[in-house]
Amino acid sequence: MGIHSLLGVCYWLATLAVAKDISGGYHGDRSISLDEAEVPVDVSSCARALKDLSIHPEQATESIFSKVSFAVHRSGETEACGVAPPSVTALQHALASLESYDAVLNKYQVESFLTGFFADRLGTGKCGPEEGTSLFDYCDEGPARTVIQPDHQKLVHVPHGDSMSLPCRFYTREGRRISSLEFLKELADLAVQKASDCPDETCGFAAIELYAAPAGRMFMFAPSYVGEVFELKHVKDSIGEVITVETLSLEPRVFDIHNFFTVEEADQLLTKALGETSETYGFHRSTTGTSGASVFSKRTSENAWDTHGATAQKVKRRCFSLLGIDEYEESMSDGLQILRYNLTKAYTSHYDYLEDKANKELYDYDSSMKGGNRFATILLYFSDLPEDGGGETVFPRAWPVGLPVEERVQLPEAIKQLRASGEADLLTPGSWEEEMVAQCRTRLTVKPSKTRAVLFYSQYPNGTLDTFSYHGGCPVLKGTKFAANLWTWSAIRPEFPGAPTKREKTPEEIEEEAAATRQVHATFRNSGKDPRFDASTQVYYEDLTFFGNLGPNDPPVGVNTFKTHKWNIKVNGKTLKSFVITGANEKEVFVI
Ligand SMILES: *[C@@H]1O[C@H](CO)[C@@H](O)[C@H](O)[C@H]1NC(C)=O
Ligand SMILES: *[C@@H]1O[C@H](CO)[C@@H](O)[C@H](O)[C@H]1NC(C)=O
Repeated sequence: MGIHSLLGVCYWLATLAVAKDISGGYHGDRSISLDEAEVPVDVSSCARALKDLSIHPEQATESIFSKVSFAVHRSGETEACGVAPPSVTALQHALASLESYDAVLNKYQVESFLTGFFADRLGTGKCGPEEGTSLFDYCDEGPARTVIQPDHQKLVHVPHGDSMSLPCRFYTREGRRISSLEFLKELADLAVQKASDCPDETCGFAAIELYAAPAGRMFMFAPSYVGEVFELKHVKDSIGEVITVETLSLEPRVFDIHNFFTVEEADQLLTKALGETSETYGFHRSTTGTSGASVFSKRTSENAWDTHGATAQKVKRRCFSLLGIDEYEESMSDGLQILRYNLTKAYTSHYDYLEDKANKELYDYDSSMKGGNRFATILLYFSDLPEDGGGETVFPRAWPVGLPVEERVQLPEAIKQLRASGEADLLTPGSWEEEMVAQCRTRLTVKPSKTRAVLFYSQYPNGTLDTFSYHGGCPVLKGTKFAANLWTWSAIRPEFPGAPTKREKTPEEIEEEAAATRQVHATFRNSGKDPRFDASTQVYYEDLTFFGNLGPNDPPVGVNTFKTHKWNIKVNGKTLKSFVITGANEKEVFVI
């Protein structure tokens, strides 16, 4: 057994012993840092700890973990960077020890544990970011590159030589996080079963494929060929059928998501957006940019926002689960953006990844270091458009998959063909829209259809911008296209507390942030002048939370609320009016 492993076992058992002492029964819901636990890290006390806890080495050979190998991948990589073969090695021994000790570890402890043992087992030269480094160096990118996620304080450091290292997170190929030893055991059982079902020796021995993501970085699917499918049985709150992710393209990485949402959900989201009366949330001309968004002549579509609607919340949570994020974080996505493209409307090609070209922003958008940016986009299509109706999502830097090189049509020729067909006659010749349609007919596209859902990534697993993610919304040539998208961030996004910044905030910025989150006392009053607001009038926070009756004879309803919160006035369950808290004053009064 290597020295790291022995220390690792000790570290773990001692931490658990301490945890038991503290809580009188360990429930796995409390993470213990090394400082807190004062773990004995010298070999002799380690041996004592092992003895005290009656670990019998022979138990290791009986463990399921001694029958499987572990193939460790770096996040997003199709080839394993290292394999720990099945034998009674340090890793298996340690897992068996924990197993026989009946240890209940929380997910952070499991991750710390696995990081230490894989790093030790695989050694130098395997899985490290460069020659002569190890998994430790991959998992812990150092303070300059480690993104501080909302749960950063819960990470359990791994003993690494004389120092401590941040742990990786480990996932299945489908993005299910290895959050308990029981789950790892389940995977081992399955792998052993699969190997024993195998008709001949060609299938090899039982193996568990694990995908490691460095501390602070996101899981991403690692497709190796177009058409490859991932079955996501674990996705929470699915629509009943198993969600599958099918690879449409490798460069950019684009996937179809089958069985992701229902016709009913599409209709609910659309009805809500169309009925939205507030200026901020209802349909309006779309804007672009990081701060102080502005109207852009090449984005002619409109959008509405749904942040807290019941269906939007359900779909947002499903998106997180699909992306391999096991705990939903409101601060790591934008609202669901509902899109409307009327006839001829379009959005020229762009990145969803935000660029801070002038380098003047307070927030740090450099996700290749410790900043945050959008990393995944999930598109939901709500309309069936005819075959020649346009409205595709185009990735102009990629060609259709499988198209022979000699059949690629270059842009000037594509424009010529388009004009000859007369199919874009409603667009001005020479306009950016016309050029776009020509691109949309010759480059990689996704065609809209009702309940189709698509995922693509704007970042590589190491956080750098994937320039192949450049894409646009093609002009609509027939009918209207409705769609929605959810942008998920690789860190807490700007304007939420904890978002990465490039520098210290100035006192003015601190004040601004405080103002943004300052409590407002809002009062809703029924003047009795509008006969629509009868005795059945009610005040709701968003859609689901009833706050009070507001008939003509009811007293005013007072609430404590925050800037941007939305309050709905409903009559017989239908929203007739919405108010958004502006935050301009500490007290706001709304009269109907
Ligand atoms: C799109 O069409 C809808 C419905 O006809 C209309 O209300 C809206 O103003 C149109 N938007 C634009 C930008 O033309
Ligand atoms: C990040 O990953 C991309 C894609 O694999 C690669 O081209 C790039 O060099 C990497 N960047 C760094 C800083 O490692």
